[in-house]
Amino acid sequence: MNAPLIDPFARAITYLRVSVTDRCDFRCTYCMAEHMTFLPKADLLTLEELDRLCSAFVRMGVRKLRITGGEPLVRKGIMTFFRAMARHLASGALDELTLTTNGSQLARFAADLAACGVRRVNVSLDTLDPAKFAAITRWGRLPQVLEGIAAAQAAGLRVKINAVALKGFNEDEQFRLTEWCAEQGHDLTWIEVMPMGDMGEADRLDQYWPLSDLRRRYAARHTLIDLTERTGGPARYVRLVETGQKIGFITPLTHNFCESCNRVRVTCTGELFMCLGQEDAADLRAPLRASADDAGLEAAIRAAIARKPKGHDFDYSRRTVAGQVSRHMSHTGG
Ligand code: GTP
Ligand code: 5AD
Ligand code: SF4
Repeated sequence: MNAPLIDPFARAITYLRVSVTDRCDFRCTYCMAEHMTFLPKADLLTLEELDRLCSAFVRMGVRKLRITGGEPLVRKGIMTFFRAMARHLASGALDELTLTTNGSQLARFAADLAACGVRRVNVSLDTLDPAKFAAITRWGRLPQVLEGIAAAQAAGLRVKINAVALKGFNEDEQFRLTEWCAEQGHDLTWIEVMPMGDMGEADRLDQYWPLSDLRRRYAARHTLIDLTERTGGPARYVRLVETGQKIGFITPLTHNFCESCNRVRVTCTGELFMCLGQEDAADLRAPLRASADDAGLEAAIRAAIARKPKGHDFDYSRRTVAGQVSRHMSHTGG
């Protein structure tokens, strides 16, 4: 029963991303519509169900657990869940327990997260300009996030900044963000914007800033060394020789990384998505609720992994958006 999870393309599934809520206190334009309808509470997995589900994956060989949302830190009682997951770190079953957050609640939770064994956090931050930050997140305020990041650092957490590369929006901040991360000691990863949710096609193409272009701009100012190291994520890294800084590139559009995919995603209602860029999902809530015993749950997980697709079909290369996925990014947490 505890055999590792291997998909049809011989990829071992060792990384689980769990979205614990579909709610968020921001409304980033590329992630959510301004007026979202959120799920009724009864549809959500309880914290106990989330625990059973994650623990089943851990028994089946998952070594890294990333908590996402929406915004994971707005889920009520979330620290109870982190404390529960800490037991898998303590037992050595998990190598890493971490989260991706918008940073708004970090000032409140950073110390507790560190106490649960979290070592790093990924914080989404696309701009250092307060007005632009308010525009892109609609409801977010930059100073609150900067305070959160400072609190994370003070609590001893490493911070990785995720910036979505947006043409005409943060192109002019490539070096400002890079220098700020160097000063503060944060890692920085750029992400190509993916076609998720019901945004207009024209807008998607307008905002798409390929990282190949961003890389060229780095190369004009710096000596770049390609690094071979991998964190088990899709990012590829380069070092800027002059500053010593490591910069990550997540390029679903310009370079497909699916061949080494090691992850699956669970939403807050227990849907298991085998690929971020495909519509297929398996319901894990029904087997969770059908029995207090985990046999049905484990069988459902194995059946789903057996149909994990080869990869996503996102493609802008024909000047039109192909491979679009209808759900919003907040549904699966990236
Ligand atoms: P680390 O490498 O551990 O830092 O994690 P990560 O980069 O996988 O996590 P993070 O939450 O920072 O991911 C950043 C973003 O990269 C995600 O929110 C997605 O937008 C994108 N991403 C991550 N994994 C995949 C994937 O499998 N496919 C695609 N298309 N995009 C991904
Ligand atoms: N394309 C690329 N990245 C996105 N994110 C949210 N929506 C998109 C999208 N459409 C990013 C966020 C965050 C992570 C969870 O996913 O900025 O860093
Ligand atoms: Fe919230 Fe993150 Fe989506 Fe922005 S990208 S709306 S912060 S979940």
